[in-house]
Amino acid sequence: MKELQNYEIKERNVIVRVDLNVPVFQGKIIDYSRINLILPTLEKLKKNKNKVFLIAHYGRPEGEYNKKYSLEFLLNELRLVLNLDNLHFLESYKEDHIKIKIKEMKFGDVCLLENIRFNLGEEKNDLNFSKTLASCFDIYINDAFSASHRNHSSITGITEHLPSYAGLSFSKEINKLDKFLENSIKPNLAIIGGSKISTKINVLENLVEIFDSMIIGGAMANTFLLSNNYNVGSSLVEKECIDISRKIQKKAKIKKCKILLPIDVVCSTSFEDQNNVKTYDIKAVPKDQMILDIGMQTTKLISDEILKSKSVLWNGPLGAFEYIPFDKSTIAIADTIKEFSSNLQIDVLAGGGDTLAAIKKANAGEAFEYLSTAGGAFLEWLEGNKSPGFKALSKNNL
Ligand code: 3PG
Repeated sequence: MKELQNYEIKERNVIVRVDLNVPVFQGKIIDYSRINLILPTLEKLKKNKNKVFLIAHYGRPEGEYNKKYSLEFLLNELRLVLNLDNLHFLESYKEDHIKIKIKEMKFGDVCLLENIRFNLGEEKNDLNFSKTLASCFDIYINDAFSASHRNHSSITGITEHLPSYAGLSFSKEINKLDKFLENSIKPNLAIIGGSKISTKINVLENLVEIFDSMIIGGAMANTFLLSNNYNVGSSLVEKECIDISRKIQKKAKIKKCKILLPIDVVCSTSFEDQNNVKTYDIKAVPKDQMILDIGMQTTKLISDEILKSKSVLWNGPLGAFEYIPFDKSTIAIADTIKEFSSNLQIDVLAGGGDTLAAIKKANAGEAFEYLSTAGGAFLEWLEGNKSPGFKALSKNNL
């Protein structure tokens, strides 16, 4: 794979795929991480006087213009965060319009193209759409690891027609992931939470092969507990995943990966009922109770495991994180990492929207070696699957 970090591209027309699918609440961006990731590649290309076009998607507009998903609202933010005095914007993907814009631009200028998913060809990975887009440029760069699990025109199709490179943030992300998955310093620990086993079966199956210990938390743990014949009251469970949880535990035994499940749990009658919150031993959960977080003893157990480890990978909250007070254990784990990772030289990588939100809440970001902003792409990589975007770059020999 050609990586921008090893090349100097100068005075060319360059198209860079970035991920601007940023979280927005009441019209305001609530996390700038994905925008910040664009900066290193952009600065290098600007310094070398290229004409840079950024392409990105926002939401899922299904191939047609929809004002709600326009990228125009990001222009001022991008100007500020990316230090751009002059940021061009182009709504049209027509070949002649792009070419006119290129002529208009000075070397070192940057232009944001409108949401690429307004074009039907994008998600269909349409050959003609990819070809026409490519025909306007000299070089393609993918700096959107978090979108690289999509087999779309601007991720894979375009690489068939242009010399293609991995951008600086893309390279950094796969190097960090490989460090934790392929060259992980032992003893290593995976902490996997979240609500559904069904979305993480392949992740769990892959990680038991790599890690010495694995903690399972979140509602996912309920199905594991049920499969071990514990009573989990009225908690969320995936009955159809009982067999798979047994299979994963069996595989873990064979691969010598120690699986840790909650030994005590925080319960209530519902997510909203904050007045009847109680902690129970895992052997004594009453019928009408829902498990909504792990208890203090389990949290302590996890902290002890972290302190014994040299590398830790974390994905998914350990309780119903969105509902206070069921965010306690997740925040406590972020706090433990904040307090000890640097002194004890424990490398920690985390990914997933809720996990990052908890880390932010605990103000613990600095303690992590890497925080992945990728959601689906991160999980697919944890499954052991190289993404279509990565494969397309690796295959490119133009
Ligand atoms: C993401 O937000 O995870 C990426 O931008 C991919 O978005 P998508 O799931 O709409 O393809």
